[in-house]
Amino acid sequence: MSREQLIEMTRSLIAHGDAGTMELADEVVRIPASTYTDEALFEQEKRQIFRRLPLMVAPSCEIPEPGDFKAMDICGVPLLLTRQKDGSVLALLNMCAHRGNPVASGSGNASRFTCGYHGWTFKNDGALLGVASPQDFGTVDKAAHCLTRFPVYESAGLIWATLDPKSKLSIADYLCGYDELLKAFGLDDWYLFSQRTLSGPNWKTAYDGYLDFYHLPVLHAATFGADFYNRANYFEFGPHQRLSTPSKFAIKVSSEDGHQIDLSKLKDDEIPQDVLVQGVWTIFPHISIASFYGGGLRGAMISQLFPGKTVGESFTTQFYVMEKKPEDEAAIKAAHEQFDFLEIVVRDEDYKTGKRQHEALQSGLMTEVLFGRNERGGQVFHQWAAKLLAASDEELLEIFTADRQREAAE
Ligand code: FES
Ligand SMILES: [Fe+2]
Repeated sequence: MSREQLIEMTRSLIAHGDAGTMELADEVVRIPASTYTDEALFEQEKRQIFRRLPLMVAPSCEIPEPGDFKAMDICGVPLLLTRQKDGSVLALLNMCAHRGNPVASGSGNASRFTCGYHGWTFKNDGALLGVASPQDFGTVDKAAHCLTRFPVYESAGLIWATLDPKSKLSIADYLCGYDELLKAFGLDDWYLFSQRTLSGPNWKTAYDGYLDFYHLPVLHAATFGADFYNRANYFEFGPHQRLSTPSKFAIKVSSEDGHQIDLSKLKDDEIPQDVLVQGVWTIFPHISIASFYGGGLRGAMISQLFPGKTVGESFTTQFYVMEKKPEDEAAIKAAHEQFDFLEIVVRDEDYKTGKRQHEALQSGLMTEVLFGRNERGGQVFHQWAAKLLAASDEELLEIFTADRQREAAE
């Protein structure tokens, strides 16, 4: 089913490419410039979006083995992901049930965690195993003092968690079937080659850059080239959007000379899998996945963005995942070069520009910013951000149940 949908999208991209057209939004959209700079709005976004909606917290290959764990802090919420013996993942509140100290930090492999403050011990499923000096402490109902669990969902080689333990929103519903398509990457048995974290501008300023190709040949003239494509068609799945260039050509990666292949000449079953997933796949509100090739090996960069401490700051973890672990020196070097190149593009071009743009917007001397008919990705993102921010918890459930039902009917 998902391959059929991917073929359909690819055929549409080929047809538009052949005709020299792209899908345009109905109109130029204006949004208030204060959307990027308002501190009260920023606090609301952290609460209503990041602490209420499912977030893609890690690629599965970051914690592949039983006992693997990763601790992280998201908008002030300490999160602990653990891989269980049966292969499932748990998302726990990383706060000791005694007085709240985080029980784990960093990442590693452990079947239990001992709190560094007074020594209480927890199993990696959150169960309280032991109270230090129990004869002195007094009676505690251990079962009632486990680490709190957050809703968690693993699909398509990615792990989502909702940082609200009481959330009733089904993460699968929230994804609107998008994870079924993401499965086409095959990420669940990929390899995490490297990762790093970059500081960026306001999270929405930063995220805008993942949602259009309009800027590619201009801002990235020195890296991607001034003749790089600048058009994208958008495919929406609830708030999640894939963008891809309308073209009938694709690079044939497997060929030595990097020749292009004419997709219009291929039958459906001849279209390579990597061509079917090309472009950028964004997952609302903060993820972008794009395919790359390091030394002929298939890879993808997963960019995971979070708001920072202030309205003008964000940070992005770039995960460079690969279909196969590069084994020889030349392949490892090529993968590093590809990843270093992408770091430079994002840090020195996208985020450097985003920080300057943010500073300028903070002057307050511009009332609105524009998203053109060719920038539907940004239009849709900001519309969803405003809609989900304003929705009550009940409305949130309705939005995603309704979306799910509509999709099932199609
Ligand atoms: S806060 Fe963890 S043992 Fe006291
Ligand atoms: Fe960019």
